[in-house]
Amino acid sequence: MRVLVAGANGQVGQSLIQRSSHELVALDRGALDITQPHSIQSAIERHRPDVLINAAAYTAVDRAERESALAVAGNQTGPALLAAACAGAGIPLLHISTDYVFDGTADRPYVETDPTQPLGIYGQTKCAGEVAVRAALPEHIILRTSWVFSAHGANFVRTMLRLADTRDQLSVVDDQFGGPTGADTIADALLGMVDRYRDTGALPWGTYHFSQLPHVSWHQFACEIIRQGRARGLLDHDIEVLPVPSSAYPTTVERPKNSRLDRAKYDQAFDLQTPSWKAELAQVLGVLSARS
Ligand SMILES: NC(=O)c1ccc[n+]([C@@H]2O[C@H](COP(=O)([O-])OP(=O)(O)OC[C@H]3O[C@@H](n4cnc5c(N)ncnc54)[C@H](OP(=O)(O)O)[C@@H]3O)[C@@H](O)[C@H]2O)c1
Repeated sequence: MRVLVAGANGQVGQSLIQRSSHELVALDRGALDITQPHSIQSAIERHRPDVLINAAAYTAVDRAERESALAVAGNQTGPALLAAACAGAGIPLLHISTDYVFDGTADRPYVETDPTQPLGIYGQTKCAGEVAVRAALPEHIILRTSWVFSAHGANFVRTMLRLADTRDQLSVVDDQFGGPTGADTIADALLGMVDRYRDTGALPWGTYHFSQLPHVSWHQFACEIIRQGRARGLLDHDIEVLPVPSSAYPTTVERPKNSRLDRAKYDQAFDLQTPSWKAELAQVLGVLSARS
């Protein structure tokens, strides 16, 4: 099974490279620009994949408001072109989407059939990308995930550790809730799908919610990062983590208060035991500690 990955340098792209035991070719933007039809076509012709995984996206949530053309290109046009190319090549597309397709006003975890209502350009373009994939290619999986972290790239875990290194006190919002999700676990979920496709020639195509548990606030997530960071010796002093409301930390785009994704549909369709995010955080901190 030959797997072609777009977005090799991202968090999920790097995890796919590290976790895969398949014949996997992961290309960065220079080798496969998902906004350029010729680039996609030549990558498919050259590598002849059996499955394509799109780990590429425009992920700068606030910057998207002033760079909407780039966000549209990366999150809408790119997935549309990839899906059309996969349809032409007769191969499936595994695509990643986000909790930001919802406005976060529900009082329960979101299920796949809930209406989308993004709060900003990033969410709107990711939503439009989903629509384009569904329209172009029945043989797709759209995996919506949330609060992605890893030892690589820009994410909340690394930001908290960086800030905590030079401060005694951090203020973190306690009125937004979601499921932190390790990039390695997302990669394992996608690679598990590749295995099943290899073995059975099919997948239960469609959209799935996927995050790790338990659901927490950003404040609770930060407290655990600091606790584990201290225990591992990554931080050498006490840090107080103060809970604050979102209103105390204004951002260009409002974030969904409720980012909780109900993953029951995924759990019924796929047989993958995933660790809690706390266990995955321990692994990530282990990697960071070995590096420092
Ligand atoms: N990060 C989160 O918290 C989060 C939450 C929910 C869902 N997601 C979704 O999860 C997926 C993976 O996210 P991530 O955190 O791994 O993202 P990431 O670390 O920001 O990586 C995205 C990668 O996409 C690449 N890219 C952007 N535009 C491209 C293009 N036109 N052609 C080829 N590559 C391009 C970037 O390349 P450059 O390095 O060259 O810019 C970058 O390496 C995305 O679909 C994202 O929307 C993420």
